[in-house]
Amino acid sequence: MTPTRIEVAAGAGAYPVVIAPRLLTTLPDRLTEAGLGPRRFLVTSPVIHALHGPLLARLGTEREPILVPDGERAKSLQTVSRVYEALIRAGADRSAVVVAAGGGVIGDLVGFAAATYLRGVRLVQVPTTLLAQVDSAIGGKVGVNHPLGKNLIGAFHAPSLVAIDPEVLGTLPRREFRAGLYEVVKYGVIASDAILADLEAHLPALFARQPDALQRIVAASCTVKADVVSADERESGLRRTLNFGHTIGHALEAVTRYRRFRHGEAVAYGMLGALAIGVARGVTPPELRDRIRALIAALGPLPPVVDLSRKELVAAVSRDKKVVAGTLHFIASTGVGKTTTLTDVTPKELRAALREIGVRQA
Ligand SMILES: NC(=O)c1ccc[n+]([C@@H]2O[C@H](COP(=O)([O-])OP(=O)(O)OC[C@H]3O[C@@H](n4cnc5c(N)ncnc54)[C@H](O)[C@@H]3O)[C@@H](O)[C@H]2O)c1
Ligand SMILES: [Zn+2]
Repeated sequence: MTPTRIEVAAGAGAYPVVIAPRLLTTLPDRLTEAGLGPRRFLVTSPVIHALHGPLLARLGTEREPILVPDGERAKSLQTVSRVYEALIRAGADRSAVVVAAGGGVIGDLVGFAAATYLRGVRLVQVPTTLLAQVDSAIGGKVGVNHPLGKNLIGAFHAPSLVAIDPEVLGTLPRREFRAGLYEVVKYGVIASDAILADLEAHLPALFARQPDALQRIVAASCTVKADVVSADERESGLRRTLNFGHTIGHALEAVTRYRRFRHGEAVAYGMLGALAIGVARGVTPPELRDRIRALIAALGPLPPVVDLSRKELVAAVSRDKKVVAGTLHFIASTGVGKTTTLTDVTPKELRAALREIGVRQA
């Protein structure tokens, strides 16, 4: 299968996203072709190293990979400090190329280390979860959590290369895989009928992790994300469309203290809520709501929301950072591939949507 190559425009110059099954087997040569020097430091997690160590081993030219824990609780300045320490001890200088292999947690935290070590060294993203492949590895946002809130510490640091091998998704737990698929659904709604049709027609092949099915869906999703961030790297307007489903999604994650939902699962509910608000407003065609409802149902069960409180969720929405200068910018769909920003969504509308998606407590 020929690799898919997508260019992402960034302030600091364009970078390629290359997607191909078995790409990791030839990646060292591609780094060389991309002009990335010989001092390469692979940073990954013990889990990923145990599963894909032999493939990844060739990416780092320094003796041992730098292993740091992943998982949301490890996405902290302390873990970043462990990366700095390993780089310093290994004598990494400004010619260092840091290769981050892992899910979004590794990509964000190792990317932040690369953004700040010696005021910035080059970074290669090798995303290994579906969410990281279609979302977090592209766009240059890097960072960590603070004990007082998620993703509060961060920077923009564009990678020199994003290398995606969909075959590594073969070892991903099914729930993590599904969590990434909800973001793919989002790309379908905001930008591409073809993505929705592909999901609808090929779910069994995707769940079987068939390389050609994965390649197609990952490449189509990366194209959407790359197009959006190329046009709007710093999130002034267009990039906000990527927040479709995220207003209510973030609120669900926050009120359950990030323990109940995988991010994508919360976004699935968030999309259903956004579609409900859109239909109630008369901007979203009811058929689109029904179509996405059916697709989300086909992807499998979601954690319950029945016991959550609408009042707490509405309060969480108004605390969200997407509220710009006191105004909530709510992304609604006006049809597949079309969005509109609503700046006057009321608590009452939010409560009605939450009721519709199954939140039963007042
Ligand atoms: N920078 C951005 O633009 C951006 C965008 C979206 C999300 N994010 C961030 O991404 C993070 C979530 O990323 P995630 O969902 O990838 O979670 P994650 O990095 O925690 O990975 C999920 C789990 O999958 C395991 N794993 C990774 N690859 C595997 C593989 N190939 N096989 C088996 N197991 C594997 C990991 O060890 C981990 O336990 C959040 O912190 C979020 O803030 C960032
Ligand atoms: Zn998301």
